[in-house]
Amino acid sequence: MRIDIVTLFPEMFASFLDGSLLGAARQAGIVDIRLTNFRDFAAGVHRQVDDRPYGGGPGMLLMPEPVVSCVEAVQGEAGPGRVLMLTPGGRRLDQPLVEQLACEPRLLLVCGRYEGFDARVREALAAEEISIGDYVLSGGEVAAMVIVEAVTRLVPGVLGHEESARQDSFSGAERLVEGPQYTRPREFRGLEVPEILLSGDHGRIARWRHEQAVAATSRRGPARPAPSSPDSSPAPFTAWSQRSPS
Ligand code: 6GU
Repeated sequence: MRIDIVTLFPEMFASFLDGSLLGAARQAGIVDIRLTNFRDFAAGVHRQVDDRPYGGGPGMLLMPEPVVSCVEAVQGEAGPGRVLMLTPGGRRLDQPLVEQLACEPRLLLVCGRYEGFDARVREALAAEEISIGDYVLSGGEVAAMVIVEAVTRLVPGVLGHEESARQDSFSGAERLVEGPQYTRPREFRGLEVPEILLSGDHGRIARWRHEQAVAATSRRGPARPAPSSPDSSPAPFTAWSQRSPS
């Protein structure tokens, strides 16, 4: 599998990509992950990549030309691939989507910065927009690392023990989270390992684990809570350092 990451901050990925699991998988040629800086595709001596939004508003937007030219250059070398733009308003990443992405031979991840991309980038590249959750990051780089880590661990040969990926939270047919697990010692600060796990009865243990997983899953509540009415919503966020003494 080849993954290209297009970013203004390739240096953010160094220790992540060279780390134990991914570094070994790259060395072994199981995954090929490459970084390209789209500032290299910006025009002029200043290599400008951002500009003010038409219609006004705070912050800066990524200009379409450097991003699109960069992605097209990568595609010219490596083929079109599935193009994912990382943005907080995109489709929420979940394990079914991760499993789908892990089946692709090529992914191209485009990291945003500032207030986001000019809307024509998505159209020009026929890209999908992906978010890793309902909160705002300063850029798509950390989100790209999340996708790379979640996807590559499903690529055969990366984990080295494929059964553990099948048993992960969200991964079985029922999409349950894992229940509690225990290792030695049998007693830790007065807290005992459940007796059933010591019983050696594999059928009962499997049933107990399944019950625990069902209970842990339902304790988390629905995947997305129902939207609250405006009058019951909490006050807008203000940092502690900005609050007036009361
Ligand atoms: Cl993909 N990008 C940014 N900037 N913020 C996010 C995100 C992505 N996903 C959740 N928040």
